Amino acid sequence: MSNNALKEEILKLKEELDVTIVAHFYQKDEVFDMADFTGDSLALATFAANDKNPNLIFCGVGFMGQSVKILAPNKRVLMPRMACCAMAKMIDVNYYDQNVAILEKSGIKKEEIMPITYINSSAEVKAAVGKMGGYVCTSSNAKVIITKALKSGKKILFVPDRCLGQNIAIDMGLKSCVVGDGSDPKEADIICYNGFCSVHQLFDVEDIEFYREKYPDILVVTHPECKPEVCEKSDFVGSTSQIIKYIKELPLEQKVVVGTEYNMVNRLREKNTYILSSTKPECPTMNETRLEDLKDTLLKIKDGNYESEITISEDTRKYAFEALNRMFEL
Ligand code: 13P
Ligand code: SF4
Repeated sequence: MSNNALKEEILKLKEELDVTIVAHFYQKDEVFDMADFTGDSLALATFAANDKNPNLIFCGVGFMGQSVKILAPNKRVLMPRMACCAMAKMIDVNYYDQNVAILEKSGIKKEEIMPITYINSSAEVKAAVGKMGGYVCTSSNAKVIITKALKSGKKILFVPDRCLGQNIAIDMGLKSCVVGDGSDPKEADIICYNGFCSVHQLFDVEDIEFYREKYPDILVVTHPECKPEVCEKSDFVGSTSQIIKYIKELPLEQKVVVGTEYNMVNRLREKNTYILSSTKPECPTMNETRLEDLKDTLLKIKDGNYESEITISEDTRKYAFEALNRMFEL
């Protein structure tokens, strides 16, 4: 079936059913086009949790759909593909507990640790952080959350993205370390878990040098999941929605090279926008969702089949909500 025929069928089914479709900026164009609302992970969670429709189809990765379920437990959240962000997969509750134990061994008491988890983590990890009085953050508000958390006078344990933790530390003039890097965690303000996004690891300082040499006036824009040395050499670092806003406000003739996921960068502007890598930076799990999956999910809803629904145990949800809600309270 062609994309146009699939799109027509999806629109027809959508009219028949009580359903809202949301999509992250990294989704494939044809899936992105079908959404009622698009955004970064923070905007999507906020919109979807407040949307009145009882059924929500989330085109994105697992932690994003889970965040909506944590915030709005009575909503039916369905995912056309149960695609899991590779970075979120790098940490589970066992690894989290092990990292807390390593800090305790180094002389930092558990009650002296303030955990913060990037929203790119499972509901279980969010719950473990919530139980310790910690916060969730996204790439658009990490600095605000870290600033607030530091007021507790505790050491920050930042999971799972070491790059986001290191980048905020550099931006705020704080000391950071990565658990297991051989340094003394007691010396650091922000202690980062050793996780990363493989897509954003593709961008290198050499790529920036290449573009700056070729186009001396070019602006370099990157996401804070990129390596610290890449972000330090960028003209602007921001979340997906901050990047879009920044680029939309530039004059069209301004050349800009962007270090984030391919689908989003490709949609930004027709001219004068470049990708900061010779390897196409596609997120494999974001790209799993296809129009066929969206159509199948709608057909199943029509038949009363909710097999792609997200479920979270109430005990996990309750503590994960505490961590997420502390972020929203700020
Ligand atoms: P945003 O919060 O900027 O949308 O980023 C989510 C993400 O997974 C980036 O890789
Ligand atoms: Fe996860 Fe990286 Fe994909 Fe974002 S780009 S969803 S962090 S794997």
